[in-house]
Amino acid sequence: MKREAIERAKEHFGRLLEMQMERIAKIKSAPDWIDYSKLKPIIIGVVGGDGIGPYIAKEAQRVLEYLLQDEVKNGKVEFRVIEGLTIENRAACMKPIPDDVLEEIKKCHVILKGPTTTPRKGDPWPNIESANVAMRKELDLFANVRPVRVPQQGIDWIFFRENTEDVYALGPYGLEVDEDIAIDFRLISTPGADRICRLAFEHARKTGKKKVTCVTKANVVKTTDGRFLENFYRIAKEYPDIQVDDWYIDIMTAKLIDEKRRREFQVFVLPNLYGDILTDEAAEFQGGVGTAGSANIGKQYAMFEAIHGSAPRMVQEGRAIYADPSSMIRASAMLLNHIGYADKGKKLEMALDICGQYEKKLVITGRPNGATGAQFADYVLETIQDPNLEARWENYVKG
Ligand code: IPM
Ligand code: MG
Repeated sequence: MKREAIERAKEHFGRLLEMQMERIAKIKSAPDWIDYSKLKPIIIGVVGGDGIGPYIAKEAQRVLEYLLQDEVKNGKVEFRVIEGLTIENRAACMKPIPDDVLEEIKKCHVILKGPTTTPRKGDPWPNIESANVAMRKELDLFANVRPVRVPQQGIDWIFFRENTEDVYALGPYGLEVDEDIAIDFRLISTPGADRICRLAFEHARKTGKKKVTCVTKANVVKTTDGRFLENFYRIAKEYPDIQVDDWYIDIMTAKLIDEKRRREFQVFVLPNLYGDILTDEAAEFQGGVGTAGSANIGKQYAMFEAIHGSAPRMVQEGRAIYADPSSMIRASAMLLNHIGYADKGKKLEMALDICGQYEKKLVITGRPNGATGAQFADYVLETIQDPNLEARWENYVKG
């Protein structure tokens, strides 16, 4: 029995390694960054997802369509709505992304994606892989970029979370060895660590940030985190003008609530799971995960999403129209920045700050005593059109 279990485990592990070696070979031979300025049209796919997803994605799309109306008219940008990434469909075909949906997604250049339900063991849904995670892998979206800004508290952070490796790479491929032992696998590769660290340093250099901080638990998770950290310091040498330091994830979670210390951090780079956890904590200072957008960036594709879940309960209780579209609209601002419309992205961010953080003429509560998502999106649209938008924003931020 024992022998058999061990043999089975060896075989399993061998197959995983083959799969991963193939993936790493692909990273090494991958084409370079796509150039959006040369594309016509840039195709933006809108994938509603499930639960409140389609409701809030629709509002974000409306805002984007307003900001890109000239580009749509002259054929530079095209919108496509892609249906079918629902938990019902995924469960029916037992795949995290149905084949036809994936095919449509791959015909686009950038994706705006609503939240999707992620099942786990014991749920009524089959325990299929998360659609987010699958899409990140399928499109090789290796960087999860999450900014958090609270100007009044001196917080201006940007997280570069590695998005395709770590425990996520092999999340669905763990092994039930026998009735006593369950094993999952964690993987960090040199090309994987290299490209995320490089992106973080490039960002720092481009935006004039002075410091990049790496977060691991390399004192305990010696091999994989050790590899990540080693690569971080190797790449840092190419950026001698930028200061570097590294922290362990446990103390880092504490330091984010240290009001004096936390102002010193600027750019973070970290493996996938630590990034997942730390970015939720960080988003809380800005008003919670509902206010945070997230960019999933690869060299050929990019996907922009909310960082919260699909809130099925809101739909069951008939409250989906009261769901807050802020996170999706934030993600849309990141999308604009990414495809070369940074001016429009900046405007949208300012309008969102005003509507959601400062002026708050309309407040979303998720219930009928608050504004609907559509009303909030209208409020954002009105605010964008204010010729004094920038002055109004500066007033609030300094005030
Ligand atoms: C996120 C989410 C996902 C993740 C879940 C839904 C699989 O928490 O985008 O941070 O863990 O990456
Ligand atoms: Mg998360």
